[in-house]
This record gives sequence, structure tokens and C-alpha cells, in this order.
Amino acid sequence: MTESIIQPQATDAERAAESALRPKQLEEFVGQPKLRKQLQLVLEAAKLRGACADHILLSGPPGLGKTTLAMIVASEMGSALRLTSGPAIQHAGDLASILSSLQEGDVLFIDEIHRLARPAEEMLYLAMEDFRVDVVVGKGPGATSIPLTLPPFTVVGATTRSGLLPAPLRDRFGYTGHLEYYEHDELEKIVVRSARLLDADLEPAAALELARRSRGTPRIANRLLRRVSDYAQVHGNGVISLASAHAALELFEVDPYGLDRLDRMVLEGIIHRFNGGPVGLSTLAMSIGEEPETVETVSEPYLVREGFLSRTPRGRIATASAWKHLGLSMPADLLSGLA
Ligand SMILES: Nc1ncnc2c1ncn2[C@@H]1O[C@H](COP(=O)(O)OP(=O)(O)OP(=O)(O)O)[C@@H](O)[C@H]1O
Ligand SMILES: [Mg+2]
Repeated sequence: MTESIIQPQATDAERAAESALRPKQLEEFVGQPKLRKQLQLVLEAAKLRGACADHILLSGPPGLGKTTLAMIVASEMGSALRLTSGPAIQHAGDLASILSSLQEGDVLFIDEIHRLARPAEEMLYLAMEDFRVDVVVGKGPGATSIPLTLPPFTVVGATTRSGLLPAPLRDRFGYTGHLEYYEHDELEKIVVRSARLLDADLEPAAALELARRSRGTPRIANRLLRRVSDYAQVHGNGVISLASAHAALELFEVDPYGLDRLDRMVLEGIIHRFNGGPVGLSTLAMSIGEEPETVETVSEPYLVREGFLSRTPRGRIATASAWKHLGLSMPADLLSGLA
């Protein structure tokens, strides 16, 4: 997939930079007020009982803080964190060996839990509910399965697609938290905090501008901050003013709505080549020389959310706001077709 400055998914190079900016305590975690209160209650109650916290499922779009919260759960509980992910567990045996090495009170973080293979999923049900795992010893007809009792532990699962999670697995989580897109004032706090950690001099007006263009996503906010900070260092005295933020964002082609080149190519493609649509995803992607997956996972969710694009059974349509955003007026026959 082509990398883009506004993609909500992390790039490989970004992971190290991200871990430096992760809040470590619930107190420091900005936004998501409802989820934060609920989670605090779940953790406090467990601490009062002197027990492990219930299993926790975190669901929400990429870049909103699921991994960050999983790490916070472990640190708030004073527990060791074990990390794995659905795709990393190829066979049930991989999961069995992780489970059988858990210590009492550990937090097992399973990222992309919707991508666990079936047999591993079934093993996980049993482990979460009865703290039991059957370990298979040996191979072939002589193989035997030995039941093993596990010490109490907490699973924190993260998923961007909670709809794909089978009901029996979903039901084994005592608490499910949904992450929502962030408001501008919350993103503003996040970039101000990140700037402090990065030792960057960020003026308040520039912080608000970054927040506005970050698509409700902390990961994008932090990424834009790094780019404007680079710009301010190279082209100025390092101070990120509103003017240098504007110049940097223009250089990276991120417009005032947070749309970038790819988003505009998608909208322009629908409008200029397909007269506003409807057009199918793969035809559209091909016409602008992009992978359908990139268009669908990077560009579309935000365009739909902001009302620039709508998905219909017949294909993608550019809305009146899209025409307007590109400085065009929507032809009258299309406008009446919308009514
Ligand atoms: N509430 C928040 N306050 C401050 N920073 C945050 C917050 N949420 C996320 N971040 C920052 O955004 C970045 C991405 O967060 P994180 O990795 O937790 O997202 P994620 O939901 O796990 O994404 P993915 O679905 O891609 O795994 C991190 O660098 C983190 O520091
Ligand atoms: Mg994550």
C-alpha cells in the first residue's frame, strides 16, 4: 500500500516514534471521557478486590489509542504486559505456549484479535472462561492432550473490526470499550503534550490548526506535528508558528479539512471522469492509478464521515460538498437527482 501522510495506520518507521509519545497512565490519556471513566472503575474495582481485572475488549478505528490503553491497563494494575496479535498466532500451539507461560496477574494484549485463526480462538474461549488450556504433547497417533490450569490473568483484546468478532468470543469480555474520533480541542491538547515531549516550540494557533487537520486521529496529529516541526527547523528558528504550520501543511498537500492529495484525487476522479458518480471502487481506483485497498481504507472512511462521498449500491458518488470543496458547482441535473 502506498504510504500517505493522512493514513490512519502506522507506518513501520513510525512505531518507535509513537512509543515515545504514549501516555503511561490513565490520567495522562486525553479525550474519550466515557471510556476513561468506565475503565477506571473496572480497574479500581479489581484492585479493591485484590483480583485481576475482567477481560477487556477495545474497539475502534486505527490510531485512536487502543494499544496505548492496553499498556495503560497493565501499568495501572502494576502487571507485566505480554504482547501478541491475531496474525502472529498461526497455530493453536503458538497460543498454548503463550498461555502456559503466563504468570498470575499478567495482562495478555492480543492486537487485531479478529484475525485469530479458528482453533486458537476456541482455545482462547476456554482459557478466558475457565483458566484452562489443553496442551498437546507429542505428534501423530501417540499425541496426548494434557489439561493445564492457568493462573488468573487479564486478556486485553484490540480490534478495528468488532463486527468480525464471533459472538462467543465477544461475550467472554467483561468490559468492552469503544473509541470514538477525537474532538478538535482534545487533539489540540494531544499535540501540545507531544510537542512538550519532543521539545518542540509550538504556538497555540498552530496547535489548533494541526488539530483541525488531523481527521479526529491522534496518530495523524502526531505525524503532522513531526512534519511541521521539521519544516520550522529547516526554514526558520524552530518555532512552529501558524505561518510555518500553514506553509508545511501546504508543502505536504494537507488542506484545511485534512484532505490530502489522494483524497482530492479520489473526489476529482469521481467528478471529472465519472460525472460525479456512481462509480465502482475498482474502476475508480484504477482511473487514478491507486490500489482499491488504499482508496478504501485510507481515503474513503474520512471522506464518507465528512460527507464528501457517499457509498451507494451502484457505486461511489461525490456529494454536493465535494464539488463545493473543489471549487466547483454541482450541475443542476445531478443536484435534482440527489433530491
Ligand atoms: N488519548 C490519547 N492521548 C495522547 N496520545 C494518544 C492518545 N491516543 C492515541 N495517542 C497517540 O497516538 C498514537 C497511536 O495510538 P495507538 O497506537 O494506541 O493507536 P491504536 O488504536 O492502537 O492503532 P492501531 O489500530 O493502528 O493499532 C500513539 O503514538 C499514541 O501516543
Ligand atoms: Mg494498536
